[in-house]
This record gives sequence, structure tokens and C-alpha cells, in this order.
Amino acid sequence: MRIDIITLFPEMFQGPFSESIIKRGLNKGLVEIHLHQLRDYATNKHKRVDDYAFAGSAGMVMMIEPIDLCISFLKEQRSYDEIIYLSPDGQILNQSVSNKLSMNENLILLCGHYKGIDERIREHLITMEISIGDYVLSGGELAAAVLTDSIVRLIPGVLSDESSALSDSFQDGLVSPPVYTRPRVYKGWEVPPILLCGDDKKIEAWNYNKALERTAQRRPEMLDEK
Ligand code: ADE
Repeated sequence: MRIDIITLFPEMFQGPFSESIIKRGLNKGLVEIHLHQLRDYATNKHKRVDDYAFAGSAGMVMMIEPIDLCISFLKEQRSYDEIIYLSPDGQILNQSVSNKLSMNENLILLCGHYKGIDERIREHLITMEISIGDYVLSGGELAAAVLTDSIVRLIPGVLSDESSALSDSFQDGLVSPPVYTRPRVYKGWEVPPILLCGDDKKIEAWNYNKALERTAQRRPEMLDEK
């Protein structure tokens, strides 16, 4: 898979992409991530990428031309499955959206700033809009990093134990059951004895019931969706 990210702040991705699972995906050659500085596509002398909003509303708006030039440059080289704009009024990201996106070959992520992007970009160039939650971030970069992480970990071969992505919270419509590791007893706090009984069937049933119980307690609306 290839992910092209269009941004005014490429350095914001250095941390999240150089550690842990994304780093492993990159090193194994299972994903390529390319960062594009939007300012490089500005055609004016001062490399401006934003301008005042028409009709006097407050705040700056990201201009069409640099974004169009960058997207066109990328589209000349390959076809893209989705061109995604990260925006607080987009479709809310969930596991099913990430699962679907992880099956694509080429994605463009566009990070906005200021008051947003000229609406005509959304009408003519963007194919999908994603929000990572009902709150406003200073720009799309952190949202693009979250989206990239949730997709890359689902690409086959990125996680060493593939079943661990399948048993994640939300994959089966339930949150995950609790997990424990050694020691069996710490300060008198015990691991549930059933997990040490060695009977796989009983353990599987216990995990399922715990996942169900937790979902009912913490995210009851998920059970309505099932
Ligand atoms: N840009 C600003 N806020 C955002 C959000 N909540 N999700 C995606 N992109 C954003």
C-alpha cells in the first residue's frame, strides 16, 4: 500500500511514523508513506497557500490551486482509490472504515488548516471525508496520523501475530476482554484462576463473556448495532 500525505507540517509525522508498528510496516516494505509539502506547489512569489474568505467571514481559507496541482501531480503517476480530506465534519472513523481502507492500494490524505479548504476542492477533488471525533484539532495532521496508524496495522504481515489485529477491540463488535500477565499474584491481587486452568474452550467462553459484559457496561450502544 502507498499513502501520500499532503500537509503544511510534514515534521509533525516524524515521531508517529518512526516508531513501533508503522515503522515495522515501512521497514518490511509493506507500506510506503510519502509526505508532500503543500507550500512547494504554491505558484505565487511568497509561497502563500491561504487567502481571505469571500464575504468577509473570519479566518483564512486554503486555496484551490496548490492543492489541485499537488493532487494532479500524484494522479499523473498512479490512480488512487480514495482522496481523503481530514475534517471534523467528515464521516466518523471507526474500525469498519479502517478495515475497508486497509484493502486499498493507493490513498491520498489531505490535511487542512485555518478555517478549512476552499469548498470547490471538496466538491471536485475529494472522494471521502473523515473525522476522528467530535472535537476540533488545530489541523488535519494528527487526524491523518491516527488514520494511518489504524490502517497500516491491518495490512497483512505488519503485525507479527496476525490474529492479534483480528482480536482487537471492535473487530467483532465487542470491546476486548481483560488481559493479565505474570506474576499470578501481586500484592494479593490475583489473576482469575480460570485463565490458568489450561482448558482452551473454557478460557474462550470466559473471554467472550467478559467481552460481552464489558461492552454492555462501557459501550452499550455497540450491542444495539449487532
Ligand atoms: N481537523 C480538525 N479537527 C479534526 C477532526 N476532529 N478530525 C479530522 N480532522 C480534523
